[in-house]
Amino acid sequence: MNTKQENITAISSGTCPFAEQTFPFPRDDRWPMDPPAEYAQMRAQEPISKVKLWDGSDAWIVTRMEEFRELMTSPHFSADPNTAGFPFISPSRAAQSRSYQTFITMDPPDHGTFRRMLTKEFMVKRMQAMRPQVQAALNRLLDDMECDGAPADFIEKVALPLPSLVISIMLGVPYEDHSVLQEWSKDRQNLSLAPEALTEAARNMEAYISKLLHEKELDPGDGEDLLSRMAIDWVNPGKLSHQDAVQMGVLLYLAGHETTANLIGLGLVSLLQHPEQKEALMANPLLARGAAEEMLRFHSITHMNSNRVATQDVEIGGHLIRKGEGVLALLHAANHDPEVFTSPDAFDIHRETKDQAHVAFSFGIHQCLGQPLARLELHVVFETIFRRFPTLQLAVPFEELDFKRNVFVFGLNSLPVIW
Ligand code: HEM
Repeated sequence: MNTKQENITAISSGTCPFAEQTFPFPRDDRWPMDPPAEYAQMRAQEPISKVKLWDGSDAWIVTRMEEFRELMTSPHFSADPNTAGFPFISPSRAAQSRSYQTFITMDPPDHGTFRRMLTKEFMVKRMQAMRPQVQAALNRLLDDMECDGAPADFIEKVALPLPSLVISIMLGVPYEDHSVLQEWSKDRQNLSLAPEALTEAARNMEAYISKLLHEKELDPGDGEDLLSRMAIDWVNPGKLSHQDAVQMGVLLYLAGHETTANLIGLGLVSLLQHPEQKEALMANPLLARGAAEEMLRFHSITHMNSNRVATQDVEIGGHLIRKGEGVLALLHAANHDPEVFTSPDAFDIHRETKDQAHVAFSFGIHQCLGQPLARLELHVVFETIFRRFPTLQLAVPFEELDFKRNVFVFGLNSLPVIW
């Protein structure tokens, strides 16, 4: 045994005070936008702790930024749910992982091979070229909301249709099909859904994208949308199978609208709860950039990402994680780490740049590919919304807001507003 291995073996894997607690922890009904209280307790007492999962198995939980980054950049962890010991946080997630395999759940070198096929599609410059389109779509949605009158459900009128419209245009998916696609997406995020129902939603979505892609393979035109370009560049020349391209299309549709939609809704609530920050943003729309970063950090909506399994014995933060042990790297907890962020549980759009070094888009090779698009949409919405509706406010008390429960991506079911 070499010295490194001896050292690792000598490290105590600890008796964890949280080992009998079952993950996920519920949020406090009174403060549903805050992380579960257990995260702070764990960070203070045992930043790498063991918890129980629904099936009785154990998994490690990582709650501090330092170890989160260490883990996400370590080559000794796999994102592939087929690797023995991979931690599933619910039966529906196990079904979700079995239902499709694309680069978000792949390891190198395959992960890079597929991801690189899409990199140029999400370059910041390309996204910025979409700004006029995003602004025009938002203006139209806001016109409709105004025309229909108050009270309005901001999720239904703006937060959901905007990213949904944008990703539909980008991919070349007919927007008139958004209702059915959104239903399937919603099912796939639901942690309480029966695995059979989730598998059915996944199959329906796959069949939909498969048919659409097939049409684009036969007639890709000038490659006006991303799926057509995939057909021209990769599928038709035989460099990518139809099935792999379908899975990539499904991932982009899923990742491309639910996430940003949820954050637009939660971000608006946070600003309405902090009128002085809302006023500052109204006076200086350039603050929308800092506001977007703070919304990303504070809400950490993909609160159940990023799960991994060790592919060999490895030390993280003084703990020995053995080959085949699952780890839940909680970016929501890392984004509220007081060693990195001043007053981490306060919402503050004026944070210094160094205080914006969040991991809401994760870290390492699986870091969100669509982040320039998400940022663009957030900037456009929060530069515009209070200029158009300076008196916008909640139509119901905060306590009556309908937050999503037991979902993979956190957000609101509805958001009644008046102006
Ligand atoms: C506020 C909005 C968003 C948030 C918070 C977010 C968050 C994340 C996170 C945390 C991951 C890493 C998952 C992991 O480590 O396992 C990820 C991956 C990914 N996201 Fe996003 N995302 C957002 C919007 C988008 C958009 C608009 C798209 C584009 C259509 C997108 C496409 C992707 C893709 C393709 C991956 C997989 C990257 C890889 O595995 O290499 N996301 N996202």
